[in-house]
Amino acid sequence: TADRLEIAMKDAQPRAIRRADYQPPAYLIEHTNLRFELESGTTRVTSRLTVRRNPAGTGGALVLDGQALTLESVALDGEALSENAFAVDDESLTLFDVPEHFELEVVTGICPEENTALEGLYRSGGMYCTQCEAEGFRRITYYLDRPDVLSRFTTTLVGDGAELPIMLSNGNEVARERLADGRTAVTWEDPFPKPAYLFALVAGTLEHIESTFVTMSGREVLLRIYTEPHNVDKVDYAMGALKRSMRWDEEVYGREYDLDIFMIVAVDDFNMGAMENKGLNIFNTSCVLASPETTTDAGFRRVEAVVAHEYFHNWSGNRVTCRDWFQLSLKEGFTVLRDAQFSAAMNAATIKRIEDANFLRTMQFAEDAGPMAHPIRPDSFIEISNFYTLTVYEKGAEVVRMIRTLLGPERFRAGTDLYFERHDGQAVTCDDFVIAMEDASGVDLGQFRNWYSQAGTPRVRVESSYDADAQALTLEFEQSCPPSPGQSEKAPFVIPFAVGALDAAGNELLGAAGPEAVTVACDARIDNPLSDGTLVVQLAESRTSLRIEGVDQPPALSLHRDFSAPVIVEAEPSLESLAFLVAHDSDGFARWDAAQAFYSRVLLKRVTGESDETPSLLLETVDALVTEALQAPDNSEARALAAAMLTLPSEEYLAQQISVVDVEGIHAARSGMRRKLGERFSGQWRRLFEVNASQGAYVPDARGFARRALGALALAYWAECEDGEGLDAARALYERADNMTERLAALRTIAWHPGAADRNEVLDNFLARFRSEALVVDQWFATQALRASPDVIEDVRRLEAHEAFDARNPNKLRSLIGAFCNQNPIGFHAPGGEGYQYLADWVIRLNTQNPQMAARLLTPLTRWRRFDAPRQERMRAALKRIGSTDGLSKDVFEVVSKSLADS
Ligand code: TRP
Ligand code: ZN
Repeated sequence: TADRLEIAMKDAQPRAIRRADYQPPAYLIEHTNLRFELESGTTRVTSRLTVRRNPAGTGGALVLDGQALTLESVALDGEALSENAFAVDDESLTLFDVPEHFELEVVTGICPEENTALEGLYRSGGMYCTQCEAEGFRRITYYLDRPDVLSRFTTTLVGDGAELPIMLSNGNEVARERLADGRTAVTWEDPFPKPAYLFALVAGTLEHIESTFVTMSGREVLLRIYTEPHNVDKVDYAMGALKRSMRWDEEVYGREYDLDIFMIVAVDDFNMGAMENKGLNIFNTSCVLASPETTTDAGFRRVEAVVAHEYFHNWSGNRVTCRDWFQLSLKEGFTVLRDAQFSAAMNAATIKRIEDANFLRTMQFAEDAGPMAHPIRPDSFIEISNFYTLTVYEKGAEVVRMIRTLLGPERFRAGTDLYFERHDGQAVTCDDFVIAMEDASGVDLGQFRNWYSQAGTPRVRVESSYDADAQALTLEFEQSCPPSPGQSEKAPFVIPFAVGALDAAGNELLGAAGPEAVTVACDARIDNPLSDGTLVVQLAESRTSLRIEGVDQPPALSLHRDFSAPVIVEAEPSLESLAFLVAHDSDGFARWDAAQAFYSRVLLKRVTGESDETPSLLLETVDALVTEALQAPDNSEARALAAAMLTLPSEEYLAQQISVVDVEGIHAARSGMRRKLGERFSGQWRRLFEVNASQGAYVPDARGFARRALGALALAYWAECEDGEGLDAARALYERADNMTERLAALRTIAWHPGAADRNEVLDNFLARFRSEALVVDQWFATQALRASPDVIEDVRRLEAHEAFDARNPNKLRSLIGAFCNQNPIGFHAPGGEGYQYLADWVIRLNTQNPQMAARLLTPLTRWRRFDAPRQERMRAALKRIGSTDGLSKDVFEVVSKSLADS
């Protein structure tokens, strides 16, 4: 197998593209005129391009990108080209000798019906739609498919008006006519020059809702959301979210929308969440449809966040775009920060921060410690689709957030204003963004740029000592960053590290007593000294020390407040000081983090066998939190925060804190603790559940989210009790719930309960109720794939053959195969290694069908180095089997070869 693998990989050996090799385009495309004749079987695409030699380019042949196209004809300035004037291969069309300025007409044929990769033009359900980012446009026609070629697009869609009553593209509809042969032709014109990755078209039988938005300068914009007819009753929430996003971007970033119409279209089959095509966003139905009966609270929040994200791209991505794909974080990191700020403003800010920090440090930290680790601005890639990662998106957002912290909100806003003004209509780099920040603020971000070039999660070690005689507190910080692929040594980062300190009564020591009370000496820069009890120390060297005088008692240290930097903090506070922070810290993130650290410490002792006991301090802490939850007011973040603080750290987060993952040990420790807490506080869980039961109509707001989160948490703990009353309460809730949040919480409690003999009946009932709701059926698959049992793979196998499963639909793949492999360690890592072989089979099958999905699903196998020797062996065997498959896509090849490198 090893030999075969090597041969297969050598054969394929796709070339890595390097950031350092960037060259400006040799030609520019002033105008792009496209005509699509949409017809089952073959769609003909006629492209007329106005091409001009780029004065800043190197000249030479015109090389257009193109893949999976059938070339029909090429004409230059109206003259058909003879066969020796051009060359075609699998990836390009080359015209050897072209004038300075000319018109090129290329006719190609494509087959959307057979496009299962969901890149380029494809069919989803009955409709035609496109996905062009990053390099999908080249599957539509020959083109300079790179983000630094901006062109004005005019698009004509021709089709059968009865079959395709709606035909949409970017910009404004400018003409509509009935052709002599009965077909309809609709023409759209987009006045804003754009790269091809922002092109979109949609055609089909769609319904829509519409509304209007009056912009800050008084222009009226028509807003439309299109869906298949059976879903049109579920887009009101997205429309509201869109209007809130538009208003927020005006108020917070000064950004006004620029076209007269903004459209969103929902499609069932989509590789990612959504896409920001100019004026015509295309969304996965999972990110736009929302109704109380079918959508959970998390679903509502996701719809709001993704609608905002795509809308915000109109400025951060479309008006100012990326020079090349290495700069992806320029638009994605910044836009994720913008959508996070928006979500924080719309809902509970502290909870949003906790969710994001938790997600980043479980999922992105794992990526950053694995074989695919890369800086937020990668230096090379084989397949760009593999770099739409948690690192580029979420860590990228943290990096921009740190710039904001270092500059402060006013200077940051001055920086974004300058960036948008200076680069409007351009394709630029991450460095251009940083330069605008520097120019607007006067702050030197030279060393800060290491965040753009270095991969890996920095570690910050903190040691503190208190000198009672001198009344002085000393903190010593030491930063380091482990090696990552191709980067053995790391230079120090600039880390804005937020620190607070509490006295014995829980008062803020740094500030509450007034700036005179303490004096701070530090060999680093400090921002916001003493403002609200939090110091932001700028760690810029390997070691930094901080001395605070005038501290009259040994304080409890509150470190890493608000998750001020994407780092791992190494400190060893006592359980007592953690419990103290859980009770008293004024910073919501730090409080939650102290609770996580407390639970982790106790759970990891169970895992290693060091101690099985549950310290009384833990029970006291939980008792206090439960009491706090019961007394929490109904109109604040308090309930949501209590729910978060009563949630034990995930198995994945625990796994990251030990050198060799003990799959069963971690699961046993965590579920044992859940049972223990369930029994111990059964009466309180019951009351918490009852107090938070729904009152009246479902409302997707922060208050409702908090109540339902706490109710579901209490129910899950209560159901751990031997007496079965909690489980009965779940059954009753399942029946009476009028919203999906509560119904699904009840379903999961039952379906995952080892003692629920009626599990299958309830699951059958759920499917029968919701069989016609694709997104709810996804939840039904995921619920079953997530049951923590070593034999759950049998259920997964049975379910992949279920009539409701559809292997061509990415949402179905994610909810069954993805959930099982990524979020069910007990099932996926079951000792025999069946899970690994099962995933390998899927990856091999999807490799030809949908390479992006295949490469994404592969992620859990890339983490093989973290497991014990027998598992490592089996995981590698699965990777090698995938690697030896004939016709490996670039996507899968890159992930497999990087995962097996140096092994
Ligand atoms: N730009 C999109 C976003 O972040 C990402 C995206 C949507 C995408 N669909 C894709 C990326 C397909 C790669 C392939 O909002
Ligand atoms: Zn995005």
